[in-house]
Amino acid sequence: MESLDFKNKTVLVVGGTGGIGNGIARAFKDRQAEACVWGTRPTASDYQDDPDSDLEGLAFEQMDVSDQAALDAYSPSFDRLDVLVLSHGIVMWGGREYQPDNFKRVMDVNVAGVLACCVKFQEMLAASAGTIIILNSVGAFRSNPKLPAYNASKAALESLTRTLALDWAEDGIRVNGIAPGMVPTRMTKVAAEDPKRVAAYVSRVPLGRTGKVENVADLAVFLASPSASYLTGLTIPVEGGRLLT
Ligand SMILES: NC(=O)c1ccc[n+]([C@@H]2O[C@H](COP(=O)([O-])OP(=O)(O)OC[C@H]3O[C@@H](n4cnc5c(N)ncnc54)[C@H](OP(=O)(O)O)[C@@H]3O)[C@@H](O)[C@H]2O)c1
Repeated sequence: MESLDFKNKTVLVVGGTGGIGNGIARAFKDRQAEACVWGTRPTASDYQDDPDSDLEGLAFEQMDVSDQAALDAYSPSFDRLDVLVLSHGIVMWGGREYQPDNFKRVMDVNVAGVLACCVKFQEMLAASAGTIIILNSVGAFRSNPKLPAYNASKAALESLTRTLALDWAEDGIRVNGIAPGMVPTRMTKVAAEDPKRVAAYVSRVPLGRTGKVENVADLAVFLASPSASYLTGLTIPVEGGRLLT
């Protein structure tokens, strides 16, 4: 097993102001990386009272990934990039994703936003023989009810992960995905704070619990490390066996 030390490495976590992305950014920071996070609010202090967000020791920049003009105008504040993590995402609960405008909005952020960020940083990642990690979901493989856009966006990301891995291998860039089951965060509040829904979910998880941010972050660190140097194009479930049942 190679070192999990990221000294002199730079990591950008898009969506690093929220639960899973924030945990991933902190895991890289704890392993000596320079970690930068993107979120949608204007300043880091706008996250001060958010229990799901700890920006201490992380560089923060505002970016809406669905705003192509803002991405085009963005000039990186770091001069190298080793790891790009795409952990942003939205969901619209309660059947709202059946409305065409909502469907399109989820696809814009969750899919087009991922591609736009990857393209933006392709050159920097090629220069460092870097790696991309795309946050997917078990929803790519097993549909969550009433989430047509979210499920479709994640299925699309599984394909996009494979295509990018294939096309950018010649640049030395590895591309992998992580597909968590339910992890209590701001995004899943509606389900994770309903004891009946959690119990129903956990009853279908062989390992008998919901996921923790650290379970996802540990895999992200591994995938970015030299120990994963022969892995590309995979989307790996982290779900306590949920997909087995
Ligand atoms: N939690 C789960 O159970 C679970 C399960 C499977 C997969 N996932 C996936 O894991 C990833 C992270 O989920 P999470 O639970 O950590 O969600 P979260 O707590 O809601 O965080 C979402 C992050 O995405 C950012 N974001 C949202 N829209 C954006 C936009 N247009 N441009 C840039 N950033 C944007 C948010 O920024 P702000 O902080 O500014 O809002 C936040 O940093 C997502 O891709 C999600 O689909 C989560």
